[in-house]
Amino acid sequence: MLVLGVESSCDETGVALVEVSESHRSALPALRAHALHSQIEMHQAYGGVVPELASRDHIRRVLPLTQTVLQQAHCTLDEVDVVAFTQGPGLAGALLVGAGVACALAAALGKPALGVHHLEGHLLSPFLSSDPPQFPFVALLVSGGHTQLMRVDGVGAYALLGETIDDAAGEAFDKCAKLLGLPYPGGARLAQLAQQGDQLVFKLPRPLLHSGDLDFSFSGLKTAVLTQVRKIEMAGVLSEQHKADMAAATQAAIVEVLVKKSLAAVQVCGVQRLVVAGGVGANRQLRLQLNAAGATRGLRMHYPEVEFCTDNGAMIALAAAMRLQAGVASASMDYAFNVKPRWPLHEATSASLALSAVTQSPGAQLG
Ligand code: KG4
Ligand code: ZN
Repeated sequence: MLVLGVESSCDETGVALVEVSESHRSALPALRAHALHSQIEMHQAYGGVVPELASRDHIRRVLPLTQTVLQQAHCTLDEVDVVAFTQGPGLAGALLVGAGVACALAAALGKPALGVHHLEGHLLSPFLSSDPPQFPFVALLVSGGHTQLMRVDGVGAYALLGETIDDAAGEAFDKCAKLLGLPYPGGARLAQLAQQGDQLVFKLPRPLLHSGDLDFSFSGLKTAVLTQVRKIEMAGVLSEQHKADMAAATQAAIVEVLVKKSLAAVQVCGVQRLVVAGGVGANRQLRLQLNAAGATRGLRMHYPEVEFCTDNGAMIALAAAMRLQAGVASASMDYAFNVKPRWPLHEATSASLALSAVTQSPGAQLG
């Protein structure tokens, strides 16, 4: 079975083709080809994503990318069995482009279509890696729009353990990066700059570190960075070394909270595996510190390949294929589509599996 996946929830157009083996139906789907166009350069002039420009660019890119993928995989459109797309969450206009194109393609081919939750794509993306996880595990989802800890018992069996009450971790990286004069999206650049800095020069808060639950809060961090930057600017000039030191301090604060809460979640759930996914999962310091902490506790850490940390079509095609394989979703020949710009992941959870996940979960409170 060949599943074509289309991702268009924000500022990346991604298309991919995965194959589910007919002879080994329980084997993980194999990635046949994928292609991506990032709009980052286009949005950089505005300091953030401009939704209307994003939608228009998705329209321009999605079909050429589909052709590239089919060529790379030596396939024709007729051979595609299911057309999957990101149904939400994300920018409404951007989602509509992917959903519209995917459903039109499916209708033209007489094949079924399947909408997928963007975060489920991130969550399952480590299954594309050379070291895929096994269920159950705790997933730390850290992207530009979300920061969540989930207990994952199987495909579609997701129980929310904790989440950010304000800014997402990626958002905190991006906002602090902006305060240091780095272009959008600043996460990776801030991490790069941090390599030249000393994290001990500036003291930044570790919000909710000792809150006793698995929630996060990052909005205070940008205020703390802003206050310290203003203080230096009032007294003189914010030097390159100041910026590097502040970048290091910011990264250290975010990473420390993410690491501590992830380890607490693993302990609460009594599982041995942690999966880290989403754009911030590409952060080297986060991986290094999780690996070090995991090694001393006998935990296995799983990450997507760096190219599949940020948005891509491969994770959408994969999530669709895995949902179909697990029997928790069925693709539809009803091509009347809708999109869900706001869509909590636990609402996309399969009802019966969700119940078992929640009853098996000892709860998020650490007491
Ligand atoms: O998952 P993603 O591509 O988009 C959403 O679904 O939101 O994540 C993008 C986020 C951005 O905030 C970006 O700055 C951050 O991931 N990011 C990083 C790194 N690479 C991307 N943050 C910290 N360190 C990185 N190396
Ligand atoms: Zn994403």
